[in-house]
Amino acid sequence: MNVSATPLPIHVACIMDGNGRWASRKGLPRTDGHTAGEEALAGVVRACAHRSVGWLTVFGFSTENWVRPRTEVRHILSLHRKLFGRINEMNENNARTRWIGRPFGETGARTPVYVQKAIRKAIADTEHNTGLVVTVAFDYGSRAELVRASQRAMADGSVTAESITQNLYDNSMPAVDLLVRTSGESRISNFMLWQITGSQVFFTERTWPDFDAAELDLALAAYANGVTS
Ligand code: IPE
Ligand code: IPE
Ligand code: MG
Repeated sequence: MNVSATPLPIHVACIMDGNGRWASRKGLPRTDGHTAGEEALAGVVRACAHRSVGWLTVFGFSTENWVRPRTEVRHILSLHRKLFGRINEMNENNARTRWIGRPFGETGARTPVYVQKAIRKAIADTEHNTGLVVTVAFDYGSRAELVRASQRAMADGSVTAESITQNLYDNSMPAVDLLVRTSGESRISNFMLWQITGSQVFFTERTWPDFDAAELDLALAAYANGVTS
């Protein structure tokens, strides 16, 4: 399929779900599912870069996910250090790393210092790139983002759609065109509620570790169909 001839979404967002189910299907511990999910993300980043998608935003860890068992949380945290550490790959893909989540040091924020360091380094070491912008949502919840944005808009004296948009965690991010959720769940799970107002949604039964370039192309084709129909 020649996806370059079809309308491409500027901004693709993914709710990367189903790592645990992928692992249990194979008789493996859930942590192995997260490890495989991190590898799958590296492939999706490469595929998006090659297809000239402008922005890829992925849900890595939510404000609700902290209640998971400690060993699982610790494993997911170390995988985020690994993924933010993929700086050579990002540079090879001419891609920039960004992050959204509860800002370090603000009330309620929980990103540990070693992950903060990896995030800061990844952003600094890739900011010169000019292609795909990859944003990882970590310690992210849309409600927390919107409460904060509303409070800041109010402090500036005007609560409007524009002023809330201006006060989101990353106000340079364009609206989401295509939202993907893997693993057969038809939920949004507190992800980018403001930014997905007009986006198309692609749900797939595939678990995230099995989400590959071919499945991305199906999502892009469904998007293109939706745009032209
Ligand atoms: C998504 O996979 C990863 C995170 C939420 C961190 P899950 O861990 O939710 O996998 P399932 O949904 O239990 O299969
Ligand atoms: C959504 O998946 C969050 C991430 C992918 C990081 P969850 O597995 O946490 O969502 P729910 O609990 O099924 O809604
Ligand atoms: Mg899940």
